[in-house]
Amino acid sequence: MSLQKFECSHGLQFSAPSSEAVRRFDEVVTAYLGFKRDIGEKLKSLLAEAPDMPMAVCLRGYLTKLVGNSFTDDKARSVSDTLTATSQTQNITSREQNHIMALASWVNGDLDQATNYWETILTEHPTDSLALRLVHHLHFYSGQGSRMRDSIDRVFPKWHAQLPHYGFVLGMNAFSHEEAGNYSQAEQFGREAVAINPADAWSTHAVAHVYEMNGMLTEGIDWISANQKAWNDVNNFRFHVYWHKSLFHLERTEYDEVLKLYDDVIASDLDADFSLDVCNAASLLLRLELHDLDVEDRWERLADVSRKHLDDRDMIFTTLHYLMALVASQDQEAIDAMLSNIRNWSKEDTTQGRICAEVGLGLAEALVSLRAARYEEASAALMAHRKNTYKIGGSIAQRDLFEMLLLHSATKGEITDWGTDLAKQRKDNQPNSLWSWRTYAYCLDPDADSSAYTEAQRNIDIIKKSLVH
Ligand SMILES: [Fe+2]
Repeated sequence: MSLQKFECSHGLQFSAPSSEAVRRFDEVVTAYLGFKRDIGEKLKSLLAEAPDMPMAVCLRGYLTKLVGNSFTDDKARSVSDTLTATSQTQNITSREQNHIMALASWVNGDLDQATNYWETILTEHPTDSLALRLVHHLHFYSGQGSRMRDSIDRVFPKWHAQLPHYGFVLGMNAFSHEEAGNYSQAEQFGREAVAINPADAWSTHAVAHVYEMNGMLTEGIDWISANQKAWNDVNNFRFHVYWHKSLFHLERTEYDEVLKLYDDVIASDLDADFSLDVCNAASLLLRLELHDLDVEDRWERLADVSRKHLDDRDMIFTTLHYLMALVASQDQEAIDAMLSNIRNWSKEDTTQGRICAEVGLGLAEALVSLRAARYEEASAALMAHRKNTYKIGGSIAQRDLFEMLLLHSATKGEITDWGTDLAKQRKDNQPNSLWSWRTYAYCLDPDADSSAYTEAQRNIDIIKKSLVH
């Protein structure tokens, strides 16, 4: 099938068999940006029509890599190797060539090089929404909000409302600004994006993050409730937005509502083996336990899924969440296997391998120590890795779990001055958080620290009254 050059709706040149193939490619990218359930179906149909279209094959590699486990990694590598070989004989654009090299870097575990290729593409082609979304994703999993914000800030002036993916770009801008701490800007971009497309779950989610970071619990619940009806065609990513909703309820101590969201929504499709589902679920169960709730046998189901991923070497952030389920279920054989995998991963000369060596392995060992009630050991490890925990990626809200675990381990055993200082720091940063004030009060001696203790109790009472439903 001979390839010619065709332009897409964002002014980019594609090597493709027909303009129809380029139109369909755009549709798959739109589905990807919108977390739609039919991404796979649309891609299959495109590849049936245009099996040799380089960007269609590359997109297959990208979407396979995004699944992120040891099974799909092999498939993505095979797609990338074949594509790299066949593209040598094709007359393709430098933009397409850079995409192919970005995929190859990604499957080889060099995430920094992959982001460099996408940033290079965006320098020349700022309206390449696929490159923009992928670099957004990997900047997100490098944990560096300011890099994510700078990346999109550079291209944003080239975007305007007439470009079909403009709303999605607003949403990426919203989330980037939120992670960089620019909350009012983030809320404005996110609300603008949702006004354009109410089904844009990523943009809805960016605004939910703003409310989470500012302790705006009622606003967060209302915002998600008002938008969730638009997500009928959204894939399991919608469960992550419900996870955010559950965090608002958790902070409001509405535990029945949290458990209902967990059972009915967040953990309702674990058979799909979607890694973010496990991250949401494990993180929520652990937070419920930190609130002294008994989660009964819910860890077991998560451990069943986690046991399939003992050999994964994709994102340490995800692996740590699988490990949370294994340690909670006390499956020693699986725990040992996963720790051994992380130790070997730490020796790999890959982006995530280096992150494992620097911080991931230490956090993994801390999770094991904590579940075994070795609080001193756990708190020492979590404290030692605290300044680098951001490197595992994920959002500030997701990584806050490690802050909570540090505080829990530092105050659960013998209460030390530094544990009390940590609790004080948290309640200073989150003055509306009942959990933070309660943890601080727990650290204080009502006699020796009487004025601080009285102040903590007064704040606890004020917050409790404000939460009366
Ligand atoms: Fe989130």
